[in-house]
Amino acid sequence: MKKKKRRKTRKKNVQKRKKRRRRRERGEPCPQEISTDFDCCEWNKEMKAVVITTPGGPEVLQLQEVEDPHIGDDEVLIRVEATALNRADTVQRMGSYPPPKGASPYPGLECSGTIESIGKKVSRWKVGDQVCALLAGGGYAEKVAVPAGQVLPVPPGISLKDAASFPEVSCTVWSTVFMMSRLSKGETFLIHGGSSGIGTFAIQIAKYRGATVFVTAGSEEKLAFCKDIGADVCINYKTEDFVARVKEKTGGQGVDVILDCMGASYYQRNLDSLNFDGRLFIIGFQGGTSTQTDLRTLFAKRLTVQGADLRNRSVENKAVIVSEVEKNVWPAIAEGKVKPVVYKHFPLSEAAEAHRLMESSQHVGKILLVP
Ligand SMILES: NC(=O)c1ccc[n+]([C@@H]2O[C@H](COP(=O)([O-])OP(=O)(O)OC[C@H]3O[C@@H](n4cnc5c(N)ncnc54)[C@H](OP(=O)(O)O)[C@@H]3O)[C@@H](O)[C@H]2O)c1
Repeated sequence: MKKKKRRKTRKKNVQKRKKRRRRRERGEPCPQEISTDFDCCEWNKEMKAVVITTPGGPEVLQLQEVEDPHIGDDEVLIRVEATALNRADTVQRMGSYPPPKGASPYPGLECSGTIESIGKKVSRWKVGDQVCALLAGGGYAEKVAVPAGQVLPVPPGISLKDAASFPEVSCTVWSTVFMMSRLSKGETFLIHGGSSGIGTFAIQIAKYRGATVFVTAGSEEKLAFCKDIGADVCINYKTEDFVARVKEKTGGQGVDVILDCMGASYYQRNLDSLNFDGRLFIIGFQGGTSTQTDLRTLFAKRLTVQGADLRNRSVENKAVIVSEVEKNVWPAIAEGKVKPVVYKHFPLSEAAEAHRLMESSQHVGKILLVP
């Protein structure tokens, strides 16, 4: 019964929007004649977003007309200049990574753009500011609402479009590798998937902070790219044993910190690759979620294993991370020591094509969508 009612309301809303669009296209003025201000003029309240029409392959992503987002008192509304793909978007599309409660149902964990309106309690930002932001969802759209604490200025020297490539990678890597695993100057650091969006950022920021960087990747071309942006030891995971290479290059000691996106399939090998007091940080499960391990490795080497998901952190927690990123990462970008690595731009209407590219793993760095 409830379902039927919801379907009816949705149908009514679609018809209402279509009618409004036709009237607007005919050049009719706003029927409410209140003002042209974005916030109070219903006439302008319509946007396009990429909708996951049903869980499935890239073809389920469709650009549709939807309601504009509503902003809360602590939020800002951003007109999106660009958004970037994350591996998690493909998992959400397949139905296994639902947005947290209250988040936009549309995919997109980061964006850049111009602030179009602000909530009553927002003091730092004003209409017209050019920014980028960490999102819990909704980046694949023309507009998105975001808590003010998750907004960052566009880093100096970076175009508004390319700024979309930074929020998710910088907040993920800074919070895990630096805030929690405490990677320090002079330490050794292994990144799995060095040519990924996460990896290309992690290489640059770890070098900037004085670490020796090891990476794994699946082809010589990708490894060459990682070397170009600063990686010291490049390991082809398809043809080499990364544990043996790590041991060989560290005089048998192992590395101090590992950033891992594989999970189960690399768990024991990661523990075997760590130095005494080593720290393993797991941010992805591309190699599965369950495994058996020999716990003696943890005891003997005093290892720490941690895992975290950025998207499901609280708004307050994200604001702390964003502020640390602005303090510690933005200066490195401003100095030109950390650069955006953008592989390709697609129009928002070609989100499916962009997902196909990400799933083919041909890319290096980030893939952007532009409304
Ligand atoms: N926990 C969090 O909050 C969080 C936030 C952001 C991202 N992540 C995770 O971080 C990872 C990277 O994300 P992304 O968006 O940057 O994705 P991406 O660009 O699509 O990268 C995926 C990477 O996985 C690598 N890979 C696949 N199989 C591998 C293997 N056997 N050994 C080593 N590397 C392998 C690929 O390397 P090749 O192309 O060389 O095969 C590729 O570089 C994903 O697992 C994602 O879920 C987690």
